[in-house]
Amino acid sequence: MENWTQGWLAYDPRRDVGGAQLTGRIKITGFDKEQPIVRNAVAEFRRGIRGMLGGRVTLLHSEELRKGVLISRQPGIPEEGYRIREADGILHVDASGEAGVLYGIFHILRLIAMEEALVGIDVTCRPDNPLRMYNHWDNLDGSIERGYSGDSFFFQKNKILVNRRTRDYCRLAASVGINGVVINNVNVKEAASWLITERYLGQLKGMAGLFAGYGIRLYLSLNFAAPIELGGPDSADPFDEDVRAWWRQKIAEVYEAVPELGGFLVKADSEGRPGPFTYGRTQADGANMLADLVKPYGGIILWRCFVYNCTQDWRDRTMDRARAAYDNFIGTDGDYRDNVILQIKNGPMDFQIREPVSPLFGALHRTNQMLEVQIAQEYTGHQIDVCYLIPMCKEVLDFNTCAACPSRNSCTASAACCEKRRTVADVVGGRVMHNRNAGICAVCNTGDDGNWTGNELAGANFYGFGRLAYDTGLSAERIAEEWIRLALSNDREVVEHGKKILLMSRETYEKYTSPLGIGWMVTPMEHYGPSVDGYEYSRWGTYHRADRQGIGVDRTDRGTGYAQQYAKPAADLYNCAEICPEELLLFFHHLPYRYRLRSGKTIIQHIYDTHFEGVEEVEEMIGLWKELEGKMEERIYRNVLERFDRQLLNAREWRDQVNSYFYRKSGIPDEKGRKIY
Ligand code: GCU
Repeated sequence: MENWTQGWLAYDPRRDVGGAQLTGRIKITGFDKEQPIVRNAVAEFRRGIRGMLGGRVTLLHSEELRKGVLISRQPGIPEEGYRIREADGILHVDASGEAGVLYGIFHILRLIAMEEALVGIDVTCRPDNPLRMYNHWDNLDGSIERGYSGDSFFFQKNKILVNRRTRDYCRLAASVGINGVVINNVNVKEAASWLITERYLGQLKGMAGLFAGYGIRLYLSLNFAAPIELGGPDSADPFDEDVRAWWRQKIAEVYEAVPELGGFLVKADSEGRPGPFTYGRTQADGANMLADLVKPYGGIILWRCFVYNCTQDWRDRTMDRARAAYDNFIGTDGDYRDNVILQIKNGPMDFQIREPVSPLFGALHRTNQMLEVQIAQEYTGHQIDVCYLIPMCKEVLDFNTCAACPSRNSCTASAACCEKRRTVADVVGGRVMHNRNAGICAVCNTGDDGNWTGNELAGANFYGFGRLAYDTGLSAERIAEEWIRLALSNDREVVEHGKKILLMSRETYEKYTSPLGIGWMVTPMEHYGPSVDGYEYSRWGTYHRADRQGIGVDRTDRGTGYAQQYAKPAADLYNCAEICPEELLLFFHHLPYRYRLRSGKTIIQHIYDTHFEGVEEVEEMIGLWKELEGKMEERIYRNVLERFDRQLLNAREWRDQVNSYFYRKSGIPDEKGRKIY
């Protein structure tokens, strides 16, 4: 018996709503039964049917199929897509490639797990994003940067692990349509720099092969200074011939050993990491050097845009970290090879509970782009507090970028109502530039904890991100419901309460932490719990600028000018406090505490009210959860309850610290006379 769970693939017994009679036999035409993905698909099907419906599945060879599942190759179906259709007792799974077969099988198993009927079904699915990736920030010593669910299951004591758990991980990832995985931390140091050497290539080959059997390509994070650290030339200058020759040789070695490798992810010139700026080169110079070398092997370079000055002076109000990604990259638009993708964080700062969408999306219009979100709950509760992040991901994807619009910088219409909307989803789905090198990735929230994600409820983010990446049109509610039915129970109350908790959780977290989009106020380095001034006078550029009169950062055209990095409709909206979306008000404006919000409430009263409400909502969630005792596996119930106890303490601490701070700073009492220290 493994000491880890099967997550949403537990395949516990289900009520049969007509599935059993359709799933006893399976026949495959047009695909090689021994092809690894096809073999894994059949194995998964057998396992699922045995667990959920208690039946055995017979694989037919030459016999005619009268009732059962017929898998056939249909070249017209889009890559990684599939069609599932029932007719006369035969459940057809059509796909043009093996990955589509696997995804189709997982789709059928999902429906059985949700006790939904298969008879009469006719659905066609295709991925909305060409690349759908998890990025793991795992270190070779087994620790995980920003990991909240134990240690790595990819690395231990500087060794690579490839075992049964790796396979279960692949099954979970493939079941939600993930097709690429970066296994190591973007901060590549020490042992991790050696991943591209013979020390590790043999084991990487084994891992890449296992991944490939689930339609997943393996990627590595790369140290831009590897030539220096691995005993090559004493430079990493992308224009230095010796450096290029060293990389050429290195990349050839890597691909010879691991031809399945998808490519590399690079964090350069960021937070102490080396990069092309060190040598007076552009980001494009650095990315292109590597891109040219991996190109013959079909590799791609994912180049991160998280480049900013992390040694700022809080007194300098002209410098603004939010501007950095745009300022550092916009001048290179169009300079990148077609196998480079710029990987852009969802917001301009760093995965806060509320941020505007990065203005790079849409502003870049001749460069491949990939959206990076973080489901590891670094700033959103460490997987102690529940925070379902899919609604936030959807907000980002729905944002109108005005990409490729000729009147981008002159239009005065409202961005929301424009008929030519080009959302982030369109950009990263490759529908604006008609490119395949595009997509979406998440900094992943897993570890070697038995339940993968620490808090069981964080499994909804692990599951949900993949589902959303494949099918951007799914609602956050639908994804929540699926996950609850698969991982917790089909019981009506579990589904209803579970959904309520998940769907309220992000706003609840926002209410008891930092207000109105300002972010931070978090314990430095660790990033859990409050410290209102923790980052206020430090070098990281993350300031709230609260003083006796007011709070917020002026990012308008009178301030740092950040708002002007957007297309005109959004720039106008953000520039003016009266129309700025209120949840982002303090991100864009410095305003007095007595400034009235559209609700008629002052900012200070809003701060007090939301902080009291946030704690009350945690209490409400706990009440909802307690009513589910006995309706799911005891282990899961207890795990979440224990996390809720800690969340409640955290929420109270935030409420009291934030309210006291602003009461003391402003001298304005709470209208309702509640307890503030
Ligand atoms: C955040 C995080 C770091 C991480 C960095 C990144 O700053 O705290 O741990 O390395 O993001 O995305 O590169």
